[in-house]
Amino acid sequence: MNMQTLQSVVKRPVKEQELLAGYTNFRVGGPARWMVEVERVEELQAVLAIAKQAQIPYVILGGGSNLLVSDKGFDGMMIRLLLREYKIEGNRVWTQAGLPTVAVARAAGDAGLTGLEWAVTLPGTIGGAVRGNAGCFGGEMKDVLVSATVLREGRIVTIRNQDFAFGYRDSMLKHGKDILLDVTFELIPGDREVIQEKMQMCLQKRRESQPTSGGSAGCLFKNYQIKSDEELARLQETLDLQPTMMEKRLIATGWLIDQMGLKGLRIGDAQISEQHGNFLLNMGSATADQIMQLISFIKTKARDLYGIQLEEEVQLIGFED
Ligand code: EPU
Repeated sequence: MNMQTLQSVVKRPVKEQELLAGYTNFRVGGPARWMVEVERVEELQAVLAIAKQAQIPYVILGGGSNLLVSDKGFDGMMIRLLLREYKIEGNRVWTQAGLPTVAVARAAGDAGLTGLEWAVTLPGTIGGAVRGNAGCFGGEMKDVLVSATVLREGRIVTIRNQDFAFGYRDSMLKHGKDILLDVTFELIPGDREVIQEKMQMCLQKRRESQPTSGGSAGCLFKNYQIKSDEELARLQETLDLQPTMMEKRLIATGWLIDQMGLKGLRIGDAQISEQHGNFLLNMGSATADQIMQLISFIKTKARDLYGIQLEEEVQLIGFED
């Protein structure tokens, strides 16, 4: 690929062999062959056209909060979305995908709109949050999103909430090639003070139940959905499931890891949090490999002990051979 051609379509300097550890909350990960930062949709379109023509694999990088990048890095193009404009009109918040979710939640609150308070605790960007239908403390992206625009095979297309096929920590963006450009949320007018209080409450709950120090990607695994009555009965024989878990047929993976006695387990500088079992932490100079070893260990144990197949919530990059 011609570097000059690539550089000619973006304002920010294109970097080569840029270490990805600096762009992820886990603070691990080897280099990207190319790192391109785009501030405008036109830049993104031009970069994608170049990557396509040169047949170079690419990955869109948002806030890096839900990513585990391998130690060998990514032999392709990392495209960092720095599309960060937003506007608020009436009850609607329009925001580009690269804006940090915290900033969107705060801006909505400052404008006296309620519905996104919970999102003030989310790391990463709006694009990442929508892609994985992020949620906490009773809220989920799918509940407030009305429409969005995506880049689909180079063209800008408007889509509606129902087109996302939202599920628990899931949307069609995880399974296809569409790139989210911007999102429109519809919120409800509320009392500014009440909104601020709700935000404070969510932040406090997070501090109480989840680790705030050590690099991490939030919850590593999705919670586990029990699939049938038979499975529920089988699990009840070996696990003392909490009433809400039975009701929702959803096992909190943090709780499960706790039950397996794995909290605090450490491989090198990678550690399962002592505070919340579903948080894996980089305590200093962990490698992606050490984190991966912990992941494998947890998955093997859950499968061997309970027949539970855990699924990662984090996006893995650069692990395939
Ligand atoms: N629990 C334990 N031990 C642990 C961890 C949890 O016993 O080590 C118990 C808790 O006491 C509670 C239950 O398990 O009874 C559920 O725990 P928690 O309330 O912390 O919620 P969670 O299901 O573990 C989910 C989301 C979080 C979100 C919180 C709060 C997933 C995978 N995780 O966690 O999202 O912040 O609810 O709403 O859905 C994330 O996705 O990255 C994330 C952090």
